[in-house]
Amino acid sequence: MDLSSQPSHPLAGTAVLPGDKSISHRALILGALACGTSRICGLLASADVRATRRALEALGVAVDDAAGATVIAGLGVGGLHAPAAVLDLGNSGTGARLLMGLLAGHDFTAFVAGDASLQRRPMRRVIAPLEAMGARVTATAGARLPLAVTGPPRLQPIHWESAVASAQVKSAILLAGLHAPGRTAVTEPAPSRDHTENMLEAMGATLARETVADGRRRVVVDGEPELHPLELTVPADPSSAAFPLIAALLVPGSTIRLAGVGLNPTRSGLFDVLAGMGAAITVENRRRLGGEPVGDLVVRGGPLAAVEVPADHAPAMIDEYPILAVAAALARGRTVMRGIGELRVKETDRLAAVAAGLRAAGVEVEVGDDWLAVTGTAGVPPVGGAVVDADHDHRIAMSFAVLGLVARDGMRVRGAETIDTSFPGFVELMTGLGARLETA
Ligand code: S3P
Repeated sequence: MDLSSQPSHPLAGTAVLPGDKSISHRALILGALACGTSRICGLLASADVRATRRALEALGVAVDDAAGATVIAGLGVGGLHAPAAVLDLGNSGTGARLLMGLLAGHDFTAFVAGDASLQRRPMRRVIAPLEAMGARVTATAGARLPLAVTGPPRLQPIHWESAVASAQVKSAILLAGLHAPGRTAVTEPAPSRDHTENMLEAMGATLARETVADGRRRVVVDGEPELHPLELTVPADPSSAAFPLIAALLVPGSTIRLAGVGLNPTRSGLFDVLAGMGAAITVENRRRLGGEPVGDLVVRGGPLAAVEVPADHAPAMIDEYPILAVAAALARGRTVMRGIGELRVKETDRLAAVAAGLRAAGVEVEVGDDWLAVTGTAGVPPVGGAVVDADHDHRIAMSFAVLGLVARDGMRVRGAETIDTSFPGFVELMTGLGARLETA
């Protein structure tokens, strides 16, 4: 599917965004481990989350759609059944990595596969700790998918020092740790998103979080708990909110409201950076939903100033750099984003994809191994008129669709069906706010 976008009149209105992808994956997975029936409202109905649901169903978990909720019949920690077929996680790194942690706790062999994008993504970061716990993983060359996981009769708890601040790695180890007798600890170089910890605590797990030397963060979980079922409403995804939000900042005269957006501090780095750029975003009606802080964001279009985004911001906004780069393209001055080498191993190499797409649209960009610099036009529409291939990356697709709303000749995105990975209804939501987007 091609998606074309054209310079738009001011955006206006209120948008209700889809549920948080990270929380939705975890709600399904943790619900499967509970003793009893969990009820989840507002679960994200996207391709990635469907893939995790199908994998859990293949592992014997009953998941049903009741009126307004998703109902999961938990099997208890260690209660999954051997699957009869390969578990295909599609495009979902979160689904694949978290499930690998779960599978390591079961004394059977399961095969994990994914699409062309997921097959390119590094899995050693998860395989190494799981093998240290006693699981056997047979992977395709380069520690990639497809792979097979066989859990030992008894998993060993470990203390693992992760080289990357990755919530997927941390969560895979914690999920495996639930199946091991004793305490499993994982230390990460900086705090990554903490939804797994929040939800495990809500389910009655014994879990400790501490800051250790150099700002590193350690999470310790006690194995073999009895987890209470979840009752949860999923907040709107801040990573999805970023697209209409930046569209409204860039299209002059816009005012929009984004309802019930997740404001967990391990996720909200983009909002802080935008405030530093002079963005007019106010938060109203702060409250808690599903154990997470949320608020309504009111966003007004206006000029942005370039900023330096230091490396320590990366974990709290790792998925937001492509759309931030689009905002930077219209800001006054040169925005530099450092310490973002992880973008090279996302759904596609996002550093390369952002640099190539912006250049094709006439924006001045410099890129290094782990940094990106964008020289903005101070609000003057870039030429645009380019075609960008999404390459199985939903956030690349949405970022360039937003750029087209403020580029002289618009933009065209090829392979835009990948947007369904995280943001079903993106085109309808954006056009509802007045954006000129068209599929072909
Ligand atoms: C996610 C963690 C992040 C993020 C991804 C979702 C999660 O990945 O990029 O979109 O739900 O745990 P890493 O753990 O690789 O940083």
